[in-house]
Amino acid sequence: MSKPVSLNVADQKLDLTVKYGTIGPSVVDIAKLYAQTGMFTYDPGFTSTASCESKITYIDGDEGVLLYRGYPIDQLAEHGDFLETCYLLLYGELPTPAQRTDFNYRVTRHTMVHEQMMRFFQGFRRDAHPMSVMVASVGALSAFYHDSTDIADENQRMIASMRMIAKFPTLAAMAYKYSIGQPFVYPQNDLDYTSNFLRMCFAVPCEEYKVNPVLSRALDRIFILHADHEQNASTSTVRLAGSSGANPFACIAAGVACLWGPAHGGANEAALKMLQEIGTVDKIPHYIARAKDKNDPFRLMGFGHRVYKNYDPRAKIMQKTTHEVLNELGIKDDPLLDVAMELERIALSDSYFIEKKLYPNIDFYSGITLKAMGFPTSMFTALFALARTVGWIAQWKEMIEDPGQKIGRPRQLYTGAPQRDYIPTHMR
Ligand code: CMC
Repeated sequence: MSKPVSLNVADQKLDLTVKYGTIGPSVVDIAKLYAQTGMFTYDPGFTSTASCESKITYIDGDEGVLLYRGYPIDQLAEHGDFLETCYLLLYGELPTPAQRTDFNYRVTRHTMVHEQMMRFFQGFRRDAHPMSVMVASVGALSAFYHDSTDIADENQRMIASMRMIAKFPTLAAMAYKYSIGQPFVYPQNDLDYTSNFLRMCFAVPCEEYKVNPVLSRALDRIFILHADHEQNASTSTVRLAGSSGANPFACIAAGVACLWGPAHGGANEAALKMLQEIGTVDKIPHYIARAKDKNDPFRLMGFGHRVYKNYDPRAKIMQKTTHEVLNELGIKDDPLLDVAMELERIALSDSYFIEKKLYPNIDFYSGITLKAMGFPTSMFTALFALARTVGWIAQWKEMIEDPGQKIGRPRQLYTGAPQRDYIPTHMR
């Protein structure tokens, strides 16, 4: 639905259109603004800009709502599983039993990576950060699977999508195994998606590995919570890379690179490092004071969110999952958890955090949970990337399949030197 509006800009009356979504804020369509006025809009950080129309994920940051294709995140996390969520994000509906079986089969059939990938991995230093390995190895998939890089071919688009969802866990597990000098573990396709990943990470050839169903279910839930999040920085990166017609493996590699930053996906690693640095409950006031000090760049990692100005709905589910995992593993007195709980309590009652609406986000709890499961901090963001891959792909496909799609090309407010003449070196 849309409605005409008029806007006065620099004494000019403009006839624009307001477009309405099914829920959430409406938008002013300013696509013709430049043609009509010679002016651009200016919105660094895109705090007031809708970059696209999408039917995939909805967030109400003030109310703390997150919906995938209309379904609340807590219902999906409680009753669904990750592969079903992948299907939902990709196709728009929950699968029937037959569609589910077929989808699981298609993903499972693609879990192995090209054997030459093993040699590709040998080129990395052992101490390489897993995210650097993931950026490189996901991008390298385009060199191994040329038969699914033609974005104009619907079938190739779907095969590339399946390949990435299926192979990302294999590559992430390989990155981990490589970093600790253990042999790669091949996927075992009679296991479910998440159990298979746990096995590829923690099994060794000389011992039988039994997947703990509580941990597998918890990790599966973590994957559901991270599967998509609307037009965040990495998703916008994927869309922008894809808008030029780049192949899907290259686009997802771009998303992985963007996710790595500590203000985005890297926050789970940063949050755990911060909890370790704080160490004990008595040191918390010192760090709270630092977070509030305008002259100190320190921020409480795992707190605040660009969109959520209320409790991150994913954090609530994550908090419960953390306790389930710690119970299952018999971890009762974890000093990190004590610090986390006390930090949360203080931050939620401190006027600085209340006024700025800084609530714990998903990364605050996911780090503690993943650490308890046995993952090193350096793997946390790779796990986030694994789960987000389906969201990136769904968003990329939606964009490519939009008949009105064009290359993304923002403009700027130029404040550099005006035109001037070149001065030869000897005269400068
Ligand atoms: N600790 C202390 N102060 C903070 C924090 C924090 N974690 N986050 C924001 N603030 C303050 C900030 O200093 C600013 O104060 P003032 O108005 O006085 O200048 C105010 O709150 C608004 O901050 P902002 O940087 O303008 O807000 P933003 O929307 O641009 O940033 C954020 C959002 C997530 C980058 C930021 O809250 C942050 O850096 N948090 C820590 C990193 C983190 O946990 N990131 C994970 C996000 S969730 C995972 C994901 O979806 O990727």
